[in-house]
Amino acid sequence: MQREITRELVRRLLPGRMAESNKGSYGSVLAAAGSMAYRGAAALCTEGALRGGAGLVYLASVEPVIQLVLSRTPECCACGCRTAANGGIHPQDADALRRWFADRPTVLLAGPGLGESAADVCKALLGRNAPWAGAVLDADALNALAAGKYRGDLPANTIMTPHPGEAARLLGLTVPEVQADREGAAVSLAEKYHCVAVLKGHHTLVAAPGGTVWRNETGNAGLAKGGSGDILAGLTAGLLAAGLKQGRTPENAAVCAVWLHGAAADRCAKRRSMTAMLPGDLFEDLGWILGELG
Ligand code: APR
Ligand code: MG
Repeated sequence: MQREITRELVRRLLPGRMAESNKGSYGSVLAAAGSMAYRGAAALCTEGALRGGAGLVYLASVEPVIQLVLSRTPECCACGCRTAANGGIHPQDADALRRWFADRPTVLLAGPGLGESAADVCKALLGRNAPWAGAVLDADALNALAAGKYRGDLPANTIMTPHPGEAARLLGLTVPEVQADREGAAVSLAEKYHCVAVLKGHHTLVAAPGGTVWRNETGNAGLAKGGSGDILAGLTAGLLAAGLKQGRTPENAAVCAVWLHGAAADRCAKRRSMTAMLPGDLFEDLGWILGELG
C-alpha cells in the first residue's frame, strides 16, 4: 500500500534550525563526485547538500572539478585528489580520505559524475567497516554496486537514489519490468540492499525495509534533464546529515528530499516553463518553498 507524501508531513519531518546551534549541529557531508569527463555533477550535488542544510560540505574530486565547484560555491571545502588513469579520483587518495574521515562522523554522498572511477572509489570508501554516519548512493556508485565491484553490505543509514535504469541493474530486471511494478521494485531494492530506496521518475517512490511505501506527487517533466538527479542526491545527503543530528531517520530525509525537489520544480516551471527551466534554477525555488514551510 502506498501513502502520499504531503506538505504537512514534510513540515513535520524537516530538521529544525535552532537559535542555539552552530555548523556542527547540522552534520557534514563528503561528496565523492565528478571526474575529468563529468564535471558539473559535482557542482550540482554539493550545492544541493549545502542548500539541504548540512553544516559542512566537503568535495573529494580531481583538481579541475574542485576548481569549477569552488568558483561557483566557495562554501564547499575541497579535498583535492590526484587524477587516476581513468580520469577520476586516484584510489590511493580515496584510501587516505577514508582514514581522514574515520573519526569525523560524516555522511558520504557517492556517485554523481564518478564515471569509470566509481568502482575504485566505492571499493575504497565503502569496503568493510566503513566509517560513515550515513550514505547516499547515486548514479555510477549504484552501477558499480550492481556490477559487484564492492561489497553489498552498505553502511547504516544508507539511502540509494536509482532511476529506473539503475534500479533494473541493481535487481537484475529489465526497465519495463521495473516500471510495470514500481512499488515491488522499490520494496525489493530496500530489502535486498538493507537501505532506504528512492525509485525516481514520475511519482517517485520511497521505501524502507519493512516500512511504508511513500509516493511523491510533486515534480514535473521539466526535471527530465541531466543534472536534476545530482541535485536530488545532494539535497538528500544534506537533509540526512542535518536530520541524523536531530534523531530523524534516513526515510524521513528521503521523503523530505523528493517532495522538496519536486515542489521546487513545480514552482520553477511556472516562472521558467518546463521546457526552458534548468536543474540549477531549482535552488532559487527551493529557498522559497522552504521559506513558505516555515
Ligand atoms: N516527472 C517528474 N520527475 C521527473 C520526470 C518526470 N517526467 N523526469 C525526471 N524526473 C526527476 C526524477 O524523479 C529524478 O529526481 O528528475 C530526476 C532525474 O534523475 P536522473 O534520471 O538520475 O537524472 P540525472 O542524474 O540528472 O541525469 C544525468 O544520469 O543516467 C545518468 O549518465 C546519465 O549523465 C546522465 C545522468
Ligand atoms: Mg542520475
